[in-house]
Amino acid sequence: MSKSVFFNQDFISIDQVKKREQIIELFKRADFMKKTVEAGKVYEPLKGKSVAVLFYQPSTRTFTSFVAAAQRLGAYVTAIHGMEEFSSVSKGEDLPDTVQSIYQTTGADLLVLRHPDNNSSQVAAEAAPMPVINAGSGKLEHPTQALLDLYTIYEHFDMRKKLDVVMVGDLLYGRTIKSLAKLLSLTDPSSKITFVAPDELKAPRELVKQLKEKLSITESDMLNGSLKTADVVYMTRVQREWFEHAGKLDEYEKLKDRFILTRHMVSQMKKNAIVMHPLPRVGEILKEVDEDPRAKYFEQMRSGLYIRMALIEAILLK
Ligand code: CP
Repeated sequence: MSKSVFFNQDFISIDQVKKREQIIELFKRADFMKKTVEAGKVYEPLKGKSVAVLFYQPSTRTFTSFVAAAQRLGAYVTAIHGMEEFSSVSKGEDLPDTVQSIYQTTGADLLVLRHPDNNSSQVAAEAAPMPVINAGSGKLEHPTQALLDLYTIYEHFDMRKKLDVVMVGDLLYGRTIKSLAKLLSLTDPSSKITFVAPDELKAPRELVKQLKEKLSITESDMLNGSLKTADVVYMTRVQREWFEHAGKLDEYEKLKDRFILTRHMVSQMKKNAIVMHPLPRVGEILKEVDEDPRAKYFEQMRSGLYIRMALIEAILLK
């Protein structure tokens, strides 16, 4: 196996991806990881390596899949959830000192970080002697989610297909759609994206402008009109935590149920369309949709394990 372009590099923004081929190579390794895991085989090329996973924000999927990915590859793992409460961050330690401390105390070869600040991964990468993977930073970036999202899309559609993608919900605070839209603009520039959001939660103007230079973007505050032609409907939750932070919970209550995907709505979609969601969901996809074969959000979660195994291997394996 030749050395990857990701070898010994930080992975902190989807903007770092310059060529579609880099992603295709990574997806081939994710296919290998999938086969290995599904066959119950042991593949531990990272024995003796050490991975630290630090989360300053809540998580179910990203935290567990990074831990599981590193462990399945044979690495030692130090994983701390609730950093703001349970580590010396609660005593006022700043991010660069925490990163340096984790390096010294664990000898980590790789740091995985989730943090509420937009520039946190950059700050950590500047302080860290080891590569840093961004596992979600502020309102802007969730690059490994974008990778697993695209991997899931390619499991269902020919990579050469012109995709009709509808992204729905909180496009202002949600970070997953921003990273995925940017990735699609690189890998699938013939695709069309429709952003569906209430006026209050529209995608940032700067992002829309940047994306429009590369692919077709339409914006709407109505969902029904986009469903019939969509290949991918990507739902997201309205992000309560950011409204709470801004003291605007009344606005959250007003907006949170604006778009709710029902079984009836999904029945109007194309037979081979797929419904995705980064999860957690808080009511925007009714549980009755889970039975529909177009619902792929659980499968999407599993893609996270394979993609993260592939990425960790690519960064650490010579
Ligand atoms: N998709 C995602 O980031 O989920 P978690 O917040 O549970 O990690």
